[in-house]
Amino acid sequence: DLSVTWLGQTMPGCLYNASGVWCREADELEAVLASAAAAVISKSATLLPRDGNPEPRYCRTPLGSINSMGLPNRGFDYYLDYARRYRYGSGKPLFLSLSGLSLDDNCEMLRRLAEEGLPAVPEVNLSCPNVPGKPQLGYDFAATAEALDAFDAAYSGLYGVKLPPYFDPAHFAAMAEILNRHPRLAFVTCINSIGNGLVVDIDSEAVVIKPKDGLGGLGGDYVLPTALANVREFYRLLPGKDVVGCGGVKSGREAFMHILAGARAVQVGTCLYHEGPGAFSRIADELAMLMRVKGYRSLDAFRGRLRTL
Ligand code: DHB
Repeated sequence: DLSVTWLGQTMPGCLYNASGVWCREADELEAVLASAAAAVISKSATLLPRDGNPEPRYCRTPLGSINSMGLPNRGFDYYLDYARRYRYGSGKPLFLSLSGLSLDDNCEMLRRLAEEGLPAVPEVNLSCPNVPGKPQLGYDFAATAEALDAFDAAYSGLYGVKLPPYFDPAHFAAMAEILNRHPRLAFVTCINSIGNGLVVDIDSEAVVIKPKDGLGGLGGDYVLPTALANVREFYRLLPGKDVVGCGGVKSGREAFMHILAGARAVQVGTCLYHEGPGAFSRIADELAMLMRVKGYRSLDAFRGRLRTL
């Protein structure tokens, strides 16, 4: 049984797409819904539609991916309209990723979502690394604190945030202290891509993506240990909140690791990009098989129970 109860409902599994992957167009969102995914999240929306950065802006590598998409998206109204039509009766929650270019834009999207009274849940993205000149909000603690106060005023329901990876215990503690001031912040998704990596191609002696002179967000195998560390630390530091694991999941084994570290649910990004929505049934079957071998009948039986030496 891979079902997960959180946000006041039970969803039929623990896996869904990472925002950005297979979720920019309505037909892609519908394909995720029709798959073995247990929930659906939309591409990070800005108030107005965007074309994003020049191509090539995504590259697969032997260990994962690098991207600098630059927030290409259909604009908030498109995803809000999708949310109006969504089949909530599927039992699969719909999340809307919001990534406004300013605090005012994020608050306006949250207010407009609240007005609709839909069951869709916002995941506010504090960590897009790919818009030239826009630093990742989650690395500015004072700006994050101010933003969360404004989100609380703009939106009356439960919401979550997508965090960038942190790399120092002092940063985990400082961010957790800020997040814990907000009772309606129900979950954090850890992690966004490791920002501003550089992949080099020896043959061409060149970078592999065009924006930002080749710098881009890393996903896939590169990020798994960093993702697990962030899931683990926020699981410990945010009692009463849920942590959604994201980073390096390509089989049931990595999904198991995220849940053992404390993840309530698990998102799939790079692997979904490469394999398509068939990845969800494969990974779910692998996780179920691993649980069977270990004698676990539910995710609750091992969530967070990572042992230390
Ligand atoms: C994009 C990348 C991200 O990692 C993110 O969180 C939002 C947007 C992008 O480049 O489109």
